[in-house]
Amino acid sequence: MKVTVVGAGAVGASCAEYIAIKNFASEVVLVDIKEGYAEGKAMDLMQTASLNGFDTKIVGSTNDYAKTANSDVAVITSGIPRKPGMTREELIGINAGIVKTVSSSLIAHSPNVIIIVVSNPMDTMTYLVHKTTGLPKERIIGMGGALDSARFKYRLAEALECPSSDVSGMVIGGHSDKGMVPLTRLAVRNGVPVGKFLSEERLTQVAEDTKVGGATLTKLLGTSAWYAPGAAVSALVQSIVCDQKKMFPCSTLLSGEYGLKDLCIGVPVILGKKGIEKIVEIDLDEAEKNKLTESAEGVSKTNGLLEG
Ligand code: LAC
Repeated sequence: MKVTVVGAGAVGASCAEYIAIKNFASEVVLVDIKEGYAEGKAMDLMQTASLNGFDTKIVGSTNDYAKTANSDVAVITSGIPRKPGMTREELIGINAGIVKTVSSSLIAHSPNVIIIVVSNPMDTMTYLVHKTTGLPKERIIGMGGALDSARFKYRLAEALECPSSDVSGMVIGGHSDKGMVPLTRLAVRNGVPVGKFLSEERLTQVAEDTKVGGATLTKLLGTSAWYAPGAAVSALVQSIVCDQKKMFPCSTLLSGEYGLKDLCIGVPVILGKKGIEKIVEIDLDEAEKNKLTESAEGVSKTNGLLEG
C-alpha cells in the first residue's frame, strides 16, 4: 500500500516516520514545495530503516505529484501552523488556497485516493475538500478527534495517576479550543467510569486542559505540536491500510446524523479500507448534545469565511 504525505514539515515528517516505524505500508511519498526538503527528510528517515527495523520505502518529492501516483491514502499537512496566541481559525486565508491546490493535484494522479486532512482550521479544510473535489464523502477524513482524544487520555491518566493505556475516552466536536467536546461521562479506566475516581471539579479541569491541549503546546514550543499529531494520523492511516475497522472520532460530512448537516465535524466513525465505513451515532445526554450543537455553530461560522 502506498501513502502520500503532503508537507514535509514537523507534522508531515513525524507522520511519515510513525507510518514507517509501524511497518505496514510499502511506500511513503513525502511531498513539499521547498526545493530538496522532502528528499532530504526522506533520505534521513531512510537511513533509520536498518536501525529501527522497517522495510517501508520513503521517497521525497519537490512538488512533483507524478511520484504520488496511485496512492491509496494521502495526508494533507501543508499550510502554515499557528504561532502562540493565534487560533486555528486565523489560518484560513492562506491554508484554504493551499489545501485546494494540493487536493486537486493528489486526485489527478490517484483518482481512488482516500484523503486525510490535517491542515487547520481542520474541520473547515475538510469541508473545503468536499466542496471542491466531489470525492465520495467516505474518502475525505479530517484528523482532529484522534489527536484530541489522545490528549484527553493523557490528561485523564495524569489525574488518575495511571498509565494512558489504562484509560479510554473520546473527544468529539470541532477541532478548536472552544469547540472540542471531551466526553468525560463516557470515559473509563479499564471499564470503570472515571467519575468513580475523580471529582466533578477535577473532571472539568481535565476537560478544560484537553481543549487547550494544542494551544498549551504552541505556547511552549513557539509553533504547533507534531509528535502527537503525527502519531494520530499514522493510527488513522493504519486502520485504513490494514482494514482494522477501528473507531476514532474524525471530522466527516454529516447529513442529518446528530441532527447536523452540511458541515464536517468530529464524531465517532469506523475506519477501514473504504475510508469512513460507518458513522457511529452514540446516545449523548442533553448537556453533551448542546455542546456539540454549539460547536457545530462555530464550525459553520468558520466555513462561512471560505470564498465562493
Ligand atoms: C494541534 C494541531 C495539529 O492541535 O491542530 O496540535
